[in-house]
Amino acid sequence: MKRTLAWLRDAIVSNRVWRSIVRHGYPDTPLDQSLAVFSNFFLHVHPVKVHRHSLRASYTFGLGLMAFYLFLVLVVTGTLLMFYYVPSVERAYADMKDLEFVVSFGIVLRNLHRWAAHGMVAVVFLHMCRVFYTGSYKPPRDFNWVIGVVLLVLTFLLSFTGYLLPWDQLAFWAITVGTSIAGYTPLMGQRLRSFLLGGNQVGQNALLRFYVLHVMLLPLVMTVLIGVHFWRIRKDGGLSRPEGEEHARAA
Ligand code: HEM
Repeated sequence: MKRTLAWLRDAIVSNRVWRSIVRHGYPDTPLDQSLAVFSNFFLHVHPVKVHRHSLRASYTFGLGLMAFYLFLVLVVTGTLLMFYYVPSVERAYADMKDLEFVVSFGIVLRNLHRWAAHGMVAVVFLHMCRVFYTGSYKPPRDFNWVIGVVLLVLTFLLSFTGYLLPWDQLAFWAITVGTSIAGYTPLMGQRLRSFLLGGNQVGQNALLRFYVLHVMLLPLVMTVLIGVHFWRIRKDGGLSRPEGEEHARAA
C-alpha cells in the first residue's frame, strides 16, 4: 500500500498519469490539433480533416447531427423517466399523472422527452430530404442510404411504441387502430398483430411488449445502426460534394 502511494505520488509529480491519458502537447500546432482529435475516444468519431465544402452550414443544415443529439436527449430523459414509470395497466396512467403533478420537474422531464421525440421524427425526415436533394444516395453512399431508411423506420417504431405507454384514451385507441392496420399486412397480418399485442386486444401484454421494445430493443438496434451510419460516412470519403469540389483542398 505504502509503495503504491509512493508510486502514485511519484507518477503525479513526474506527470506520468497525465501523460498516459493525454498523449499530445497543447493543441496549438496542426500536428497536436490532429492528435488531440485522433487520440480522443469521443472526438475521433469526427475525421481529423474535412473538406472545405463540408463545413458549409447550408449544405447539411446540421440535420443529421441534430437527429443524433435529439436521440441522445431521448436516451437521457427516457432513462430518468424509467425511475418513475411502471409498465402496468393499473399504474401506468397514475405514474404519468404523478410525473406531472407530484415529481419535482417531472413535467419538464416528460415534455422534454415528448418534444424531443416529435422533433426527431421531423428532423430525421428533413435530413432524408436533404440527402435526396443533394443526390447523396448515389454510389458509393447507396448502402448508407439503406441504413438511413432502416433508421427512419426505427424512429417511427420508437415513436409508435412510446405512444401506448401513458395508457390514456388517446394512447389506447391510437394503438388499437395502429395494430388493426398492421393486421391487414398481406400474408402475415394477423401474426404480426398478435406478436405486437401478445394477444387479441390492447391490454397488459401489449403494454409490456411495447415497453420492452421502446426502452430496450429498438434503442439498442438504433445505437448500433447510428454507429454503422457514421462509420460509413467516413469510409465513403466524408460527406458528398458537388462534382467540381470532389477534390477541393481539405480544411
Ligand atoms: C436516426 C437517424 C439518423 C441520424 C442520427 C443520421 C445522422 C447523420 C449525420 C450526422 C450525417 C452527416 C451529415 C449531416 O449532418 O447531414 C448523415 C449523413 C447521411 N445520412 Fe443520415 N442520419 C439519420 C437518418 C438517415 C436517413 C433516414 C437517411 C436516408 C434515408 C440517411 C442517409 C444519409 C446519407 C446517405 C448520408 C451521407 C450524406 C452525404 O454524404 O452528403 N440518414 N447522417
